[in-house]
Amino acid sequence: MKTRITELFGIEHPIIQGGMHFVGFAEMAAAVSNAGGLGIITGLTQGNPENLAKEIGRCREMTNKPFGVNLTFLPSVTPPDYPGYIKSIIDGGVKIVETAGNNPQKWLPALKEAGIKVIHKCTSVRHSLKAESIGCDAVSVDGFECGGHPGEDDVPNFILLPRAAEELKIPFVASGGMADGRSLVAALALGAEGMNMGTRFMATKEAPIHDNVKQALVAASELDTRLVMRPLRNTERVLKNAAVERLLEKEKELGAAIQFKDIIAEVGGVYPRIMKEGEMDAGAWSCGMVAGLIHDIPTVKELIDRIMREADEIIGRRLAGMQAA
Ligand SMILES: Cc1cc2nc3c(=O)[nH]c(=O)nc-3n(C[C@H](O)[C@H](O)[C@H](O)COP(=O)(O)O)c2cc1C
Repeated sequence: MKTRITELFGIEHPIIQGGMHFVGFAEMAAAVSNAGGLGIITGLTQGNPENLAKEIGRCREMTNKPFGVNLTFLPSVTPPDYPGYIKSIIDGGVKIVETAGNNPQKWLPALKEAGIKVIHKCTSVRHSLKAESIGCDAVSVDGFECGGHPGEDDVPNFILLPRAAEELKIPFVASGGMADGRSLVAALALGAEGMNMGTRFMATKEAPIHDNVKQALVAASELDTRLVMRPLRNTERVLKNAAVERLLEKEKELGAAIQFKDIIAEVGGVYPRIMKEGEMDAGAWSCGMVAGLIHDIPTVKELIDRIMREADEIIGRRLAGMQAA
């Protein structure tokens, strides 16, 4: 399949693995890139620019295909060393960066100067247009169903993607709720040039996370996610568990008076305990509604090959067969 996204990033299949905290290590990114998609290392997960440089080096040993690095700009009291991370990306010869969270404008000149293509993840048409106007090469349009931070507009992809297609000139991928060949064909039909998956890639053999997390994804249905931190305007879609129930209880009790410090036990620094140790109730962790479409734990290559086969079958047979002669 050839789209503006496969052309832009020099990849075989129009499938991207979005940055994922404590999931996006070299093993994950390399597996996706080796299978013909675009794998992405999660920058901030590495803890500091030196470790990111090492992770880029490890990834390069595992694949000779293009891969990217995610840089997430989220509200934080002490901002991470972004200039340092950007230096590691440039020095490491990475040519694709996925930005997310906040407007990446400040960092674009350095990235562009180094010949890096930037795909910015947005949850609205207005942010996508802003990304286009400041010189991003592509956007990842993240609908309300997505795992992680869906923003505060709550527009699902069936509306958001065609709206993005109406307005954008740069290519975009559909993100949020994508799992299989049906998702890919639907995304293309709605105007996207490919898809970005987070949650689905966690339930693969190569995902460098505890098996308990993968089993939880297979067991979960589309009804099992919750939105937390809504009152803080930092909404996150997570899988429900004991910690999330506690957090939602606090949100109800404290109402508009709630502050980040009130919920730190449920959201602060919990990822290593969940992803590495498999402590499933340690805190809130991002998960999309797409969990309802995850029924197995294939290798990344099996997953991507299956998606492309399904997409071919749907376009070439099912849809073609519906056209009146
Ligand atoms: C466990 C997990 C961690 C994530 N961490 C990040 C992150 O650090 N930065 C980021 O930009 N997006 C992050 N995301 C969002 C994904 O990159 C992607 O946009 C989202 O998962 C797409 O929705 P889906 O899960 O329905 O496929 C995370 C998602 C998950 C499931």
